[in-house]
Amino acid sequence: MKTLNIGLVGYGFMGRAHSNAFRKAPKFFDLEYQPVLRAVCGRDAAKVKAFAARWGYETCETDWRKLVERDDIDLVDIACPNDMHRDIAIAAARAGKMITCEKPLAMNGPEGLKMVQAVEKAGVPNMVWYNYRRVPAVTLAKQLIDEGRLGKIFHYRAKFLQDWTISKDLPQGGAGLWRLDVKVAGSGVTGDLLAHCIDTALWLNGRIDRVSAMTETFIKQRKHNLTGKVEKVGIDDACAFLARFENGSLATFESTRYARGHKALYTFEINGEHASIFWDLHDLHRLQYFDHRDEGRVRGWRSIHVTDGDHPYMGKWWVPGLQIGYEHSFVHQFADFLQGIAAGKPASPTFRDALQTQYVCDAVLKSAKSSRWQKVAA
Ligand SMILES: NC(=O)c1ccc[n+]([C@@H]2O[C@H](COP(=O)([O-])OP(=O)(O)OC[C@H]3O[C@@H](n4cnc5c(N)ncnc54)[C@H](O)[C@@H]3O)[C@@H](O)[C@H]2O)c1
Repeated sequence: MKTLNIGLVGYGFMGRAHSNAFRKAPKFFDLEYQPVLRAVCGRDAAKVKAFAARWGYETCETDWRKLVERDDIDLVDIACPNDMHRDIAIAAARAGKMITCEKPLAMNGPEGLKMVQAVEKAGVPNMVWYNYRRVPAVTLAKQLIDEGRLGKIFHYRAKFLQDWTISKDLPQGGAGLWRLDVKVAGSGVTGDLLAHCIDTALWLNGRIDRVSAMTETFIKQRKHNLTGKVEKVGIDDACAFLARFENGSLATFESTRYARGHKALYTFEINGEHASIFWDLHDLHRLQYFDHRDEGRVRGWRSIHVTDGDHPYMGKWWVPGLQIGYEHSFVHQFADFLQGIAAGKPASPTFRDALQTQYVCDAVLKSAKSSRWQKVAA
């Protein structure tokens, strides 16, 4: 087995999800590479040391530049806030490292394009962690669509609802709350949540041609944790947009952090000429499927429990009927990445794939400002 030395930047929510994937992937999948947790980087030396001890990283860094320059690192994994993705990715590409980067790829399209150019110039394998593609039920949806079972697609409907920023007393900025600070996040729910919905949609249903959007910032000012001052809030708290896909289908997308009672309600529904599909993150191991070609007397929505050996990825886990969860999507994505580099075929979404999501986000934010339909850059 070849070794793959990993250097992780950021040890928060995604640092944990990725570390778990690095550990689990070679245990459950047949891989030519053995991931080695060589180094983890964070700014707080004591915290990064504790993280390294818990997850088994061999060494620590407090400056990502040092990590990127190290000769004993093959893959730089970017799991820190959005405003840092570009500089780390470009430096890592120049140093000839493979790169896996969290979503959204960048703060905006032009920044994302520079990252794409850097990895393509360096010729280094690259991937963005749009992990929902690797939920077995979502991968099954892709298979059913690609087999033509839905026929011509008429509608795509997606939403991602949360409720954690409703309080006006919630500050913005700093650890844990960087998502509310536009200078660090780039945007609000558009880049954070809708980016996931858009990535899945582009994968399942092809290119989006144009969008018409509205956004709202319900709480206009919040205390900033880093300055201690009350500052203007620059992110979108909620966003809804209409879209036209190149294949002629119509779409609605909605996301908010102000939907009381919802924590991470990501759902999508696709309606085709012959069949429809519905998926819900809260019930992620099920795919709802309706096929009009079924015999009329027994026709109806079926709830497919995506846990059988012939379902995507499931043959590698437990026995049929036993379900897996959120963290497994990262395990699958990393296993696909390792299989991709072994075969010389990059696993999707690459930086270039993820740039298209960035372009849709840019068009959405531009449309919300101009109150006009916007074409999505190609
Ligand atoms: N794929 C997904 O489903 C998913 C889910 C959550 C977050 N994300 C993305 O992952 C990224 C990280 O989000 P998170 O939720 O893990 O955030 P987090 O706040 O939990 O963790 C961020 C980490 O980055 C570190 N960091 C910040 N500045 C740094 C610096 N200068 N040098 C080194 N480390 C630094 C922080 O110390 C922390 O460990 C974001 O881009 C986010 O959009 C993706």
